[in-house]
Amino acid sequence: MDHFLYRDGVLHAEDVAVPEIASAVGTPFYCYSAATLTRHYTVFDAALRGMDHLICYAMKANSNIAVLKLLGDLGAGMDVVSGGEYRRAIAAGVSPSKIVFSGVGKTREEMELALTGGIRQFNVESEPEMRLLNEVALELGKVAPITVRVNPDVDAKTHAKIATGKSENKFGIPIAKAREVYAEAAAMDGIEVVGIDVHIGSQLVDLEPFRLAYEKVAELTGVLRADGHTIKRLDLGGGLGIPYAHGNQAPPTPEDYGQIIRETVGHLGCEIEIEPGRLMAGNAGILVSSVIYNKEGDGRNFLIVDAAMNDLIRPAMYEAHHDIIPVIEPAAGAEKRPIDIVGPVCESGDTFAKQRDMTAIADGEMIAFRSAGAYGAVMSSEYNTRPMIPEVLVKDDQFAVIRRRPTFDEMINRDTLPEWM
Ligand code: LLP
Repeated sequence: MDHFLYRDGVLHAEDVAVPEIASAVGTPFYCYSAATLTRHYTVFDAALRGMDHLICYAMKANSNIAVLKLLGDLGAGMDVVSGGEYRRAIAAGVSPSKIVFSGVGKTREEMELALTGGIRQFNVESEPEMRLLNEVALELGKVAPITVRVNPDVDAKTHAKIATGKSENKFGIPIAKAREVYAEAAAMDGIEVVGIDVHIGSQLVDLEPFRLAYEKVAELTGVLRADGHTIKRLDLGGGLGIPYAHGNQAPPTPEDYGQIIRETVGHLGCEIEIEPGRLMAGNAGILVSSVIYNKEGDGRNFLIVDAAMNDLIRPAMYEAHHDIIPVIEPAAGAEKRPIDIVGPVCESGDTFAKQRDMTAIADGEMIAFRSAGAYGAVMSSEYNTRPMIPEVLVKDDQFAVIRRRPTFDEMINRDTLPEWM
């Protein structure tokens, strides 16, 4: 069910007309739909029915605390990858007993923060990390619950920058080394083994890599149990892809994915954790932008809009496709022409789409980038001293600003002049 639809020729977010939000906050802005976030959580929850499970939302995808609170209130736990994310999850009221801590470079300070505040488990990614965690836990008189993230050497068949499960990637320990690492863990007084973790990549549109990885995890579970370890939890990571281009073949659903989980690890009697990020938030958000100029180039036309690569970096960084639609619905049968949609930032990489077929959109009119709820606002920057854009959450016929646009003074006053200047 799509909650970003035209009504009487105007794009709506749930029951709110997008131009109404634009009048209140100005463009560009991100707009999220509470109903969509809720639906995505519910669909995942249903897909794992019959298995003891916890959905740990990978909050790196969209970490606004209003989004976290909405998901947390539905029952979600959180997958955090930094002390900052841990603090956000706590600020959103998520119980530490539902927070898992992932990431290849956890620092001593982050370990102390989570051990003191409480944590469900650390997903340990290397031996040096495990040794430091043991040391920190002992110093604090605590025991750190851990899984070890194994790298199953599976090709996720996704963009190279977001594949994580091949042996050449920096993530996890080689699965062949797992017995050795678990034996070392078992001998540490500050460490308690609770399970196994795996995550092979993001935007997977094929279920086979998941199946291969989870089969390897199932086999490892048997081996480690035979070695005497307690494997009561399997963290199966995130990564299920979403449809970015309307009309293209849709990727597998959470239901299909749940079935793979059931078939591969369902018989092991483990508690299942998953860490979806993109699927929860991606299609729950749009980025709304105004056209500044229609510019005619040499054999090429440009739509210069007020959003830029600093607001949504995915096209520049991953050659990612986002559907782009006019906020005012074009007349049926209106002619489309190929056009480049670009931002105002001073580099050619600031291009959202090349030769995209679009109906005419006049200067001052608005467009919306779809599927922008995940890895949009969180990856934005102030490049070109452009303020981070507001985030708005819609629920039925209400909307609220959940992060306001900073003032230029706030941005500039973070800089300080050295005394000697
Ligand atoms: N768990 C771990 C350990 C992860 O590293 C990630 C994503 C996830 C879960 C969530 O994956 P998801 O369900 O969202 O696919 N910025 C990139 C995506 C980076 C993903 C990084 N890790 C993009 O815009 O496509």
